[in-house]
Amino acid sequence: MSNPLFRKKSIDTIQKEYDKGQEDGQPMNLKKVLTVRDLTFMGVAAVIGAGIFSTIGKAAFEGGPGVIFLFLITAVTCGFTALCYAEFASRVPVSGSAYTYSYVTFGELIAWVIGWALILEYAIGNIVVAISWSAYFNNLLIGMHIHLPDWLTIGYQTAKIKYDSALAAGMPVNDLIYTNAPSLGPLKFIINLPAFLIVVLITLLAYIGISESKKSANFMVGLKLVLLAFIVVFGFYLIAADGSTDNWSPFLPNGMDGVLRGVSSVFFAYIGFDAISTTAEECKNPKRDMPKGMLYSLLICTVIYILVALVITGLVNYKEFEGVADPLAYVFNKINMPKVGLIIAVSAVAASTSVLLVFQIGQPRIWMSMSRDGLLPKRFGKVSKRYKTPAFATLITGLLVGIPTLFIDDLLMTDLTSIGTLFAFVLVCSGVLVLPKIKKAKDQFTLPYINARFIAPVLVAVFIYFFRARLLSAMEHLRTESYEEILFILFILVAIIAAVLSFIKRYSLIPVLGTLCCLYLMITIPAKSWLVFFGWMAVGLLLYFAYGYKHSRLIQKSPAEAK
Ligand code: ALA
Repeated sequence: MSNPLFRKKSIDTIQKEYDKGQEDGQPMNLKKVLTVRDLTFMGVAAVIGAGIFSTIGKAAFEGGPGVIFLFLITAVTCGFTALCYAEFASRVPVSGSAYTYSYVTFGELIAWVIGWALILEYAIGNIVVAISWSAYFNNLLIGMHIHLPDWLTIGYQTAKIKYDSALAAGMPVNDLIYTNAPSLGPLKFIINLPAFLIVVLITLLAYIGISESKKSANFMVGLKLVLLAFIVVFGFYLIAADGSTDNWSPFLPNGMDGVLRGVSSVFFAYIGFDAISTTAEECKNPKRDMPKGMLYSLLICTVIYILVALVITGLVNYKEFEGVADPLAYVFNKINMPKVGLIIAVSAVAASTSVLLVFQIGQPRIWMSMSRDGLLPKRFGKVSKRYKTPAFATLITGLLVGIPTLFIDDLLMTDLTSIGTLFAFVLVCSGVLVLPKIKKAKDQFTLPYINARFIAPVLVAVFIYFFRARLLSAMEHLRTESYEEILFILFILVAIIAAVLSFIKRYSLIPVLGTLCCLYLMITIPAKSWLVFFGWMAVGLLLYFAYGYKHSRLIQKSPAEAK
């Protein structure tokens, strides 16, 4: 392809660079210490965090006990995606994750776009996690009778939103944090100090080294698994001792519609299994171990999520979860066991800390890959001689995550994280469809091929049949329709195109289903967040044309490779 926007890196080149361990005379000397066990632990470390301790409440309120079906649906979607990641990881064993995978399949522009979108998953996602960490940490302090001033425990924007809504609703504002915070001239001084400090600490850990980070992640994963296991076993024991399963009936109080309303909350809880693909260069055998690590971690998390969902909906009625931000702690307080609440706060803090760590490790490694390709300045790719980590990129990640946590509200950030992540997933799944066939070694992972020729069109037809009323109504009112319904029509069009192409080209079923499932989850996210997402992407494109387009290493290399 002659258009420079679509110049591609070849897998051979990446492999050669990787084997040689040298690029531009700069050592690519990350430590190779990670095994399948470490990768699985890292996956669990990245996945189980703020989601299960907070967003599950909203999903349970919408779907009732049947929310477990949503965990299954999301797990299957993530499973398709993990298999596609695994196929790439078995071919392209370097640190860039979806960014590098897109570079070899779709070319430079899309790779940049993905790299830019991944900042939403890693850095912006970590803002949400740090804010949730701070809330649980504060609960823990209160449990130990330590009280920080309120205006040091919440972001300025969150306090202002609460103040404005109270004013608008004609409620009293005298007790609100915004009213009572100290003033700096015309500005109120309100910051989320614990959220900022944990990001600083985690950044230092990620800076010091992968071995130290691995040990800490393993420790925190161990702790959160033990505590969650206790919560599950104890929860089921209480349900059995009570002899009543009334709360599980009806199991689907709002039907599948209600279940599907929780999609973005539940999806957030699954984000992270892909993060381990950013540590490919630190793996002992990435081609064999990376896929296993991803799939094992996904399986473990799904089992835990389903059990936790059953426990909380079994112990209290799903209707009680309206507006509950800390459902696990809420359940045990409700049944008069506040001491268990303390255990939950400890698990939530451990869980969110490990998520923070893995994402704070992942982001700099993506930037490192982008910098090696010339799309970001060289400093982003520099590996510290002493610590053997991408030092500058790690510090910038710390600033990018840490500073906003002081001030910002997390609601919009959660949606942005989900859109950015799903976008990356869509490109990884569809990218697998255009990969050339290669011969692999025996111990290398290979994505199972199931011919989508007939299955994909049938599934798309069944989907359209079930959603025919919504589709017809959306088309009838096209001019006045909301953005959500327009997105729905676009989704149906893409699904039909995918079905036709599957029929003609006999595509592999798993990537086709992965692409469509992720796209469907994407269109369930509110249109307001899509607009911010487009704005973010526009800024990214401007930066690409201002810098990456001119500095890409593919221009400076031989014309043959730049094609
Ligand atoms: N899945 C991660 C969490 O729930 C992002 O915190």
